[in-house]
Amino acid sequence: MRSKLVAGNWKMHGGTAQNQDLLRAIVAGTADLRGADFTVCVPYPYLSQAQTLLRDTHIRWGAQNVSQHDKGAYTGEVSAVMLMDFGCHYVIVGHSERRALYGEDSDTVALKFQAAQVAGLIPILCVGETLDQREADVTEQVVAAQLDAVIELAGVDALVKSILAYEPVWAIGTGKTATPGQAQDVHAFIRARIAAHSPKVAAGLQILYGGSVKANNAEELFAMTDIDGGLVGGASLVADEFVAICRAAKN
Ligand code: PGA
Repeated sequence: MRSKLVAGNWKMHGGTAQNQDLLRAIVAGTADLRGADFTVCVPYPYLSQAQTLLRDTHIRWGAQNVSQHDKGAYTGEVSAVMLMDFGCHYVIVGHSERRALYGEDSDTVALKFQAAQVAGLIPILCVGETLDQREADVTEQVVAAQLDAVIELAGVDALVKSILAYEPVWAIGTGKTATPGQAQDVHAFIRARIAAHSPKVAAGLQILYGGSVKANNAEELFAMTDIDGGLVGGASLVADEFVAICRAAKN
């Protein structure tokens, strides 16, 4: 049985004072929950604060991006070893906002995935189609290509120490959630594609759903066979909402 994971993706939000309130509320609100994992992926400047406030708790923390390089003249970039230095457990790679707004292609994402693992981080690899792609009925091809880039570079066994997140781009920040059935179909497709390489790796892999996960839809999404938790954007900034989503993962 796979356990569930709920990961908050704060994106470019936060501030020292509000983070402190939010993190404390998350720790307190989930203290009685066992058997599921919870994490927050915060902007780089707040990693130190997350480390200070979360180090002795059951909540893990991580980042939202990482360089594919290990060091050197890469102004503005942050390496995986640096993230390890701040106690990160996870790092999101290939988020659709990075693919669309910062031109990260699947080959670059695969290099970031690998760089994260080499340093000892667990990459949360995001895949997902745009609305145009869904309407053109190429969702599976798009998701497969994003996934295959990583498998080709790192090998299928690399997925053992990773998390996948299926995030349909049309559902991110739009309030338009994929139906549990729509999400389950893609999750099952992803798992089957990995199973073609290794049934064992596929069976153990946690695949999160992301895209307008809220307190009021989390439970039905998380009830689907191949949905192992959520990657949560907007609702991860509101303590009560995020705690309620964490609770839904436990039910
Ligand atoms: P959302 O974002 O929950 O605000 O839709 C999800 C994500 O981008 O990871």
